Amino acid sequence: MIKKDKFIKEIGWILKEKYGFARLAEFERDIQRLQKGEPVAYVIGFVDFLGCKIDLSFRPLIPRPETEFWTEKAIEDIKKSGRKKVRCLDIFAGSGCIGVAVLKHAPVAVVDFAEKEKKFLEQIKLNARLNNLSPKRRKFIQSDIFSNISDDGGYDYIFANPPYVAETRRAKVQKSALKWEAPCAIFGGRNGLFYINKFLKQARGYLKPEGKIYMEFDSRQKNEIAGILKRRGYGNINFYKDQYGRWRYMMAEKQPLAGF
Ligand SMILES: C[S@@+](CC[C@H](N)C(=O)[O-])C[C@H]1O[C@@H](n2cnc3c(N)ncnc32)[C@H](O)[C@@H]1O
Repeated sequence: MIKKDKFIKEIGWILKEKYGFARLAEFERDIQRLQKGEPVAYVIGFVDFLGCKIDLSFRPLIPRPETEFWTEKAIEDIKKSGRKKVRCLDIFAGSGCIGVAVLKHAPVAVVDFAEKEKKFLEQIKLNARLNNLSPKRRKFIQSDIFSNISDDGGYDYIFANPPYVAETRRAKVQKSALKWEAPCAIFGGRNGLFYINKFLKQARGYLKPEGKIYMEFDSRQKNEIAGILKRRGYGNINFYKDQYGRWRYMMAEKQPLAGF
């Protein structure tokens, strides 16, 4: 392996002289950003997420492979449903990667994107445009969880990747995430369940009968989440592992409450 730091000037010179690299100063700035520890995804400015180009210039959470893994399963589920129109909500949307991928791969889907931070809503709008998604199939809502979401007959699917890292586990979080990614996208209170609790308390009221929630979480939260889901009257509850063998996401349905 070449020690790239040592040869950085020479690499720039070769790029410029041999390959006609015109944006040398910009390239050198990017290398400096990397040397300071900035995540390569922010330096490049976008990532691929299930074949969609997800721009990161407003610095939302960098989409993770674990999220890509379950989003693909959710898309398969939508396709298998055989429905002609599927109303979806991507809540805690950040970059919008989940909803954008759903819109791209499931032509029957329409998606409402909900996010608290204004700058991330701009990011989602940009990503929807970048991926040529029809304006008729998407809506953007600035909302503190469900505060600005209207019932409108409910959703068939709600996708949620809430901030779920426990404050008590701050020391275990990757240093680059702590330094470079927005804390509001990462931490979910002392035990990480602050937003999960609030979300699950209300989400049932925004689902159509037999509508489904897909939600990501930390593997340590599985048992507590199972308890919350039962208490809140969800049915057909399933927990799944990610591609690394860790409990990572759940699917649950709105079923009629007992006695009704
Ligand atoms: C873990 S990130 C998920 C981003 C994206 N969905 C993904 O999977 O990469 C959580 C997002 O929730 C947003 N958020 C935090 N608190 C919120 C709240 N009270 N209501 C709505 N969104 C919130 C954050 O700004 C952040 O963009």
